Amino acid sequence: MVVDILTLSPGYFASPLQEGLIGRGIRQGAIRVRIFHLRDFTSDRHRTVDDRPYGGGAGMVLKPEPIARALKFLGQALPGPPHVVLLTPRGRPLDQMRVRELSARPRLTLICGRYEGVDERIGAAYCHDQLSIGDYVLSGGEPAALVVLDAVVRLLPQVLGSPESQVEESYEDGLLEYPHYTRPRVFEGQGVPEVLLSGDHERVRRWRRRQALARTWEIRPGLIREESLAPDDLKIIREIQKCGLSDPHRGV
Ligand code: ADE
Repeated sequence: MVVDILTLSPGYFASPLQEGLIGRGIRQGAIRVRIFHLRDFTSDRHRTVDDRPYGGGAGMVLKPEPIARALKFLGQALPGPPHVVLLTPRGRPLDQMRVRELSARPRLTLICGRYEGVDERIGAAYCHDQLSIGDYVLSGGEPAALVVLDAVVRLLPQVLGSPESQVEESYEDGLLEYPHYTRPRVFEGQGVPEVLLSGDHERVRRWRRRQALARTWEIRPGLIREESLAPDDLKIIREIQKCGLSDPHRGV
């Protein structure tokens, strides 16, 4: 997979591309990441990338020409058209389903917005999608691009030795994950739920499912679509609705 990132802060990506799973994916050749400075695609002496908004108001807007020029250049540089995504707080929310879709693309181009935003005509004419990583405003799209990259890399099948991409996890089945424990058995007075020490795999499985459903119900009820729940899960939800269940030490 080739990911191209268009940014006004190319240095921002230096260390994240060497670290962790992204670094490993790059070293393994599962992913190639290229960083392009938008100023390199300007045509004036001052390398201008922004301008005042039509209609007035505070802040500056990213000009369309440097971005369009960069995208045209990238489109020709490698075979196959890239999937072009603009990162903006006005975009559709990024979720695990969209990450999965993105990770299946051979080429991805991420445009990092800045200032008050990017000229609307870039989104309209050049972008296949506009994504937001959450309901808050960052100073630029760079952290969001790294979030997308990290989430995508860990799903690439070639990124070997990545337990994250194999285990069952939060959001892959639409639920928040059950709680985890490791040694010591008692930490600052808190024990480990008895069921996890029982060696009874079926009880553990049921407890984990119940905890995942209870957590999701308590913290992110909007993630639960009752019509698509299996009958066993629906039964658990009904019980949680009646009695509540957030204590991991109860309810197997
Ligand atoms: N740029 C600024 N804020 C952002 C956000 N929440 N998501 C994506 N890009 C952004």
